[in-house]
Amino acid sequence: MVSAEAGIERVLWTEAEVAARVGEVATELAADLRALPEPAVVVGVATGAFLFLADLVRRVDAPLAVDFVRVESYGGGTESSGKPRITADLKVDVAGKHVVVVEDIVDTGNTLSCLIAHLEKKGASSISVCTFLDKPARRKVNIQLVGDGKFYSGFECPDCFVVGYGLDYAELYRNLPYVGVLKPEMYKKDSSN
Ligand code: PRP
Ligand code: MN
Ligand code: MG
Repeated sequence: MVSAEAGIERVLWTEAEVAARVGEVATELAADLRALPEPAVVVGVATGAFLFLADLVRRVDAPLAVDFVRVESYGGGTESSGKPRITADLKVDVAGKHVVVVEDIVDTGNTLSCLIAHLEKKGASSISVCTFLDKPARRKVNIQLVGDGKFYSGFECPDCFVVGYGLDYAELYRNLPYVGVLKPEMYKKDSSN
């Protein structure tokens, strides 16, 4: 039997640290959403945001709708293609709505920029971003929020390839309840990615 932990070199944030920080972000977000005249639409970016979104919204005491989009840019590798594609669109109509995009990580910023442009075209009246991890060292595109949108972030992430709490390598490790650094041999041996 192989544990999911076998590929992890070190833990960056434990399950308890993640839970504590998610609670703080939820409190900040809830205060802002309660001040809105109508319910916000929380848009999770599948797949990576699924755990953060689930833990976040259950701690946000404010009226809100939840929907998902799928945006993919990494395929199976550790490097962004730089050309994200929206491969599944929203169910909810966001025209005139306050949207909060929930991400597991903002890295180059390509995924969010693509998605924000998409949501703006659909007529969202404001667009905020709530990301579990922010990796500013790798940013290639500035994130342009829309209207009164705000940027919420859980942790600043060092410039290394992290997995767990939604974040994957080749679709694995998402189920780890903590965030860890992947052992380099786990991906360097696979030069096709
Ligand atoms: C990852 C991550 C973010 C995005 C961030 O998604 O979940 O959505 O990349 O990278 P960027 O800022 O450089 O665009 P990925 O494309 O791997 O899809 P996934 O969520 O299904 O893992
Ligand atoms: Mn993603
Ligand atoms: Mg991924």
